[in-house]
Amino acid sequence: MKNIAVLASGRGSNLEAIIESIENGTLQADLACVISDNQDARALQIARDHGFKALWLDPGPKKTWLLPEFEENYVKTLQEHNVDLVCLAGFMRIIKTPLLEAFMGRILNIHPALLPSFPGLDVQRKALEYGVKFSGCTVHFVTGDVDAGPIVTQAVVPVLDDDTPETLAARILKEEHRTYPEAINIIVSGDYRIEGRRVIRT
Ligand code: GAR
Repeated sequence: MKNIAVLASGRGSNLEAIIESIENGTLQADLACVISDNQDARALQIARDHGFKALWLDPGPKKTWLLPEFEENYVKTLQEHNVDLVCLAGFMRIIKTPLLEAFMGRILNIHPALLPSFPGLDVQRKALEYGVKFSGCTVHFVTGDVDAGPIVTQAVVPVLDDDTPETLAARILKEEHRTYPEAINIIVSGDYRIEGRRVIRT
């Protein structure tokens, strides 16, 4: 696995961290394309600015997922670019059968909480309101169950008494930028095996 694609819906700071790691040689992968469901995503501009292919693909009429005919177009585009590994980086849609079947075991996601705690959306606020003393981020394989696939890496940050959802999100994001390229490197190198739910480095 060497060719990766990044799917992003918005700001693209994780994409930026991935690109930086490729450019400085710490992530040994080729970024075949960046795909967004949002024409105005900053992620697309970041990709273009660094000379990578940036594509907007019509997401269709649904807000939180892609109807099969639209998702099939995502699959076709990824296959045309010989993508081995799909990296979701703030791609705000639930992945369904066409993509899951075509890229089974070859889709990663980054989530801004320590799964299995706080799956879903607005999770930095939820972690703060719950009163946990530590939170963090998780890179995991994407399966049919949302935010529940085998975990590749996690990073932990403290939750401080004077945190707001924004300050906690910023502390977690910093760890996301460090952790996601590392996790991608593990998977593209092929130096791992999966036992049950456990991703074990070899
Ligand atoms: C990141 O915090 C990422 O973990 C989160 O969206 C943000 C995207 O930021 N993803 C999810 O919540 C997925 N459910 P970015 O566009 O700057 O990388």
